[in-house]
Amino acid sequence: MGKGMARPNGEAIYRYRADKGWSQERLAFEAVLSRPVIGRAEQGRRSTWITVSKIAKALGIGDDVGKILLPTRDGPPIIAQAISETGPFLLPPPPLTVVGRDRDVVQLTQRLLRQEHHPSSDGGNPITIIRGLPGVGKTTLAAFLVHQQELVGSFPDGILWCTLGPTANVLSELAHWGLALGIADAIEASTVAMAKTRLAGFLHSRRVLLVIDDGWRADHVAHFLVGGPHCSMLVTTRLNEVALAVGSSADAIYTLNVLSYADALELFTRLAPAIAAENPRESQELVQKLEGLPLAIHVAGRLLVAEAQNQWGVEDLLRDLRADTETLLKAPAPADMADSLTDAAPTVASLLNRSTDRLSARIRTCFAQLGACAPDPATFSLASLRVLWKTKDPRPIIRALVDRGLLEPMGTSRFRMHALLAAHARTLLRK
Ligand SMILES: Nc1ncnc2c1ncn2[C@@H]1O[C@H](COP(=O)(O)OP(=O)(O)O)[C@@H](O)[C@H]1O
Ligand SMILES: [Mg+2]
Repeated sequence: MGKGMARPNGEAIYRYRADKGWSQERLAFEAVLSRPVIGRAEQGRRSTWITVSKIAKALGIGDDVGKILLPTRDGPPIIAQAISETGPFLLPPPPLTVVGRDRDVVQLTQRLLRQEHHPSSDGGNPITIIRGLPGVGKTTLAAFLVHQQELVGSFPDGILWCTLGPTANVLSELAHWGLALGIADAIEASTVAMAKTRLAGFLHSRRVLLVIDDGWRADHVAHFLVGGPHCSMLVTTRLNEVALAVGSSADAIYTLNVLSYADALELFTRLAPAIAAENPRESQELVQKLEGLPLAIHVAGRLLVAEAQNQWGVEDLLRDLRADTETLLKAPAPADMADSLTDAAPTVASLLNRSTDRLSARIRTCFAQLGACAPDPATFSLASLRVLWKTKDPRPIIRALVDRGLLEPMGTSRFRMHALLAAHARTLLRK
C-alpha cells in the first residue's frame, strides 16, 4: 500500500453512520469531504489516512480511528503524512442533468489538458476562466468536467476544488487544500502568504487540477493560483472584471453562453415532461421567454411540476410565467445552488441581489431604469442610454454594468440584458 494510505473498514463506517441516521451526504458534510470519497471509503477502497481520520472525527470516534480501519498484515495501519498515490479528490458530486454542453465540455477538456501538456513555461496558459451570467451553468459544467475520466486520469495527484463567493475565508479554504494534500504546515499556517508558499512548493512537481469556483474578488482568486508547471487551473466567475484581472490574456477567458433554444426546450421537457407534452405551444413560448438560462428553466420547471401535483393552475401559472418573469424571482433557488448561498431560504432574487447589492447607488438606479423601459428582448443602443440616464457619456455606467456581468455588449454600440436580469431590475425600481 502506498504511503499515507489506509484500508478503511467500509462496513464499520456504514454502521457508525447508520447509527447516527446520516446519509452519505451528511457524513461528507460533517467530515468536510466529498460524497464520492465517503462512498469509496464505505466500499472499503484504499483511502488516505487523512480521509479516514476526518471520517472518524465526524463520527465521534476521532480518538479511536482503528474502529474504522481494517487490520493490515504488517500490524497496525500505516500512518504517514505523505500524499497518497492516487491523490486527493475534493469534489462536488457530479451533476444529475447536463444538457447542451457537449461542445463546451470538449473545448474545456482540451484547454485543461493542453495546459497540462504544455506547461506555462513554454507559453501555454495555465489558467482557464469560465465566465458567464449567474445561473448559466458555470458550476454545473465545472462539476461535470472534474468527473470526466479523461481529466481524472490526467491529474493523478488529485483534483482540488474550492467555492469562494463574495465573502470567502481564504486562509481556511487554503488550509482545507493543505489538509487534502496532507501538508501539515499548510494546515497550520497562520497567514495566507505562508499557506500559499507551502502549497505552491508542494504542487510544483505534481499534476493536480485546481478548481476555484465562483470567484468574486481577483485578489481572493489569486491566492489559490498555486499550481505548478504540471498543474491546470480552472476559475469560474460571473464578473467580467475578475475574469480580466485573473486571466493573463483574453484567450484565457471562456465565455459560457446560455443554452440554444432547442437545448433549453430539451431541458424543460426533461424537468417537466407531462407539462411539456400536454401544453406544447405554451411550453415553447415559455422557454423562448426564459432566453436559455438554465437557472430560469429549472425554477420554472419545478414550479410547474409542483403546481401540477396540486391538480390545478398549471395553465394559469404557465400564463403568468410567460407574461412576467418576476414570478421566478420569488421562487426558491435550486437546491444544488444552495451551497453558495447563506440565506436560510434562498430565492432566485437573492442570487441576483448579490450582484446588484454591490453596485453604487447611482449605478444601481441606472440598472433599475433599464428594467423599467426594457424592450422585449431587452437591447439598448448607446444613444438610448444617453437619454435614459440623462448623461452625455453613458460609457462609465455601461462599463460598470458590463464588468459585473449585468449587461452584455453586442458589437460596440448596442447592449443586451438577460430577461431574468431585466425582471430583477424592475423589482429594484420599486424598492
Ligand atoms: N447544462 C445544464 N443542464 C441542465 N441543468 C443545468 C445546466 N447548467 C446549469 N443547470 C442548472 O441550472 C442551475 C444554475 O446552474 P449553476 O451551475 O449553479 O450556475 P452558475 O454557477 O453559472 O451560477 C442549477 O440548478 C443547475 O443544476
Ligand atoms: Mg456557480
